[in-house]
Amino acid sequence: MEKVIKIEGGHRLQGEVKVSGSKNATVALIPAAVLANGPVTISGVPGIADVDSLCAILRILNVEVTEKEDHLIIDPTSMKNTDLTADVVTKLRASYYFMGALLGKYGYVRIRMPGGCYLGPRPITLHIKGFEALGASVEYEKGCYTIQADHLKGAKIFLDIPSVGATVNIMMAAVYAKGRTVIENAAKEPEIIDVATLLNKMGANIRGAGTNVITIEGVSELQGCFHEIIPDRIEAGTYVIMGAACADSLLIKNVIPKHIEALTSKLQETGANLEIGIDSILVTKSEGIHGVNITTKPYPGFATDLQQPMTTYLTQAAGISEVLDTVYPERFKHCHELQRMGADIEISMGKSLIKGPSALYGDKVTATDLRCGAALVIAGLLAEGVTEIHDVYHIDRGYDNIDGKLEAMGGVIWRDTVD
Ligand code: EPU
Repeated sequence: MEKVIKIEGGHRLQGEVKVSGSKNATVALIPAAVLANGPVTISGVPGIADVDSLCAILRILNVEVTEKEDHLIIDPTSMKNTDLTADVVTKLRASYYFMGALLGKYGYVRIRMPGGCYLGPRPITLHIKGFEALGASVEYEKGCYTIQADHLKGAKIFLDIPSVGATVNIMMAAVYAKGRTVIENAAKEPEIIDVATLLNKMGANIRGAGTNVITIEGVSELQGCFHEIIPDRIEAGTYVIMGAACADSLLIKNVIPKHIEALTSKLQETGANLEIGIDSILVTKSEGIHGVNITTKPYPGFATDLQQPMTTYLTQAAGISEVLDTVYPERFKHCHELQRMGADIEISMGKSLIKGPSALYGDKVTATDLRCGAALVIAGLLAEGVTEIHDVYHIDRGYDNIDGKLEAMGGVIWRDTVD
């Protein structure tokens, strides 16, 4: 028996939706919290499966975790640096943040290869390059990394690609290192600023997060603190796209509009009606939208994570749209699922060509990864009939209460079990 999501299409959305705390910030903030020597309270924690997995890892490390509404109190006072070989480590990508956090705190970590969405090859060579530059030795054997150092020493590290994961991992490994670490060609994503903010509240000395040069002066002590997570720009973007695709009027609240400017300006280019407020975006029905070309780039460029939901929207736009993913050139599995529902899409290496508008029809489809799931939910809302989405655990890994939020907007969505 398998749990699926079913969506009855054709109901226009209306009302408002509040965006939750950022998934990709949260999954880094939780491992970062173990660097403190006292309790860290994180508020605005989204109710997603990745958070449950990270809390399970914290408990393996004997870290006390208290969940109170959307607060998480993480107390590492009695922590033990246990080897992270349990299966839960492979359930998500972000378990790799325990590499930087445990290496930084103890000078030793043994951890299974992380999991997460398959988006094409996702090497962690730059994380390793950073740890080695700080003086650590790295061994990979039987699916497990062992990373250790007698002393970590600040270093200058140039990232060949501005990797989000490598930037955060090196920042965490370097907070206690002796002297100054400089990360050049660092990733500039807002989630990196959020992690640096938490670490600085704990007592770290990190400057430049949000730019491509981050400087970390090693410190000897980090304490507990309180931190509120930034809103999820990818969840916000997903609801803005959903609103533009099928709402009469939808107010998306708890947004930092600047974080999704590459998306909102593209949507406006298609003819979508958006009113951008200080911390909200209102989407109202537009009378005819047309295709555009999109190229994904690291922040502040068009986010690869929004390329997939945007593709569903573009199936409704008149003319031809080209979507080029330069971050993950193989991130196009959603296109095969959309084709099943009636979309006219040609896929070639690194890009898709979408001819619209196409009528979509409900069918049995598979969420091959998290944002493919989001693309299929939007397609289900647009389609005639009922769409049945399989492998919904991907969606639950990253979208907080998607059923409740959609129902409140007038969407018809329910869970079912099928053979
Ligand atoms: N890369 C390398 N070597 C490395 C690291 C990365 O070649 O050592 C390449 C990757 O293969 C990719 C590019 O660099 O082509 C960017 O990867 P990055 O390291 O920035 O990605 P990540 O840290 O693994 C995070 C998000 C992803 C998001 C990407 C890009 C988390 C937990 N994940 O992944 O989010 O797509 O940045 O913005 O923060 C999602 O939320 O659905 C998701 C997949």
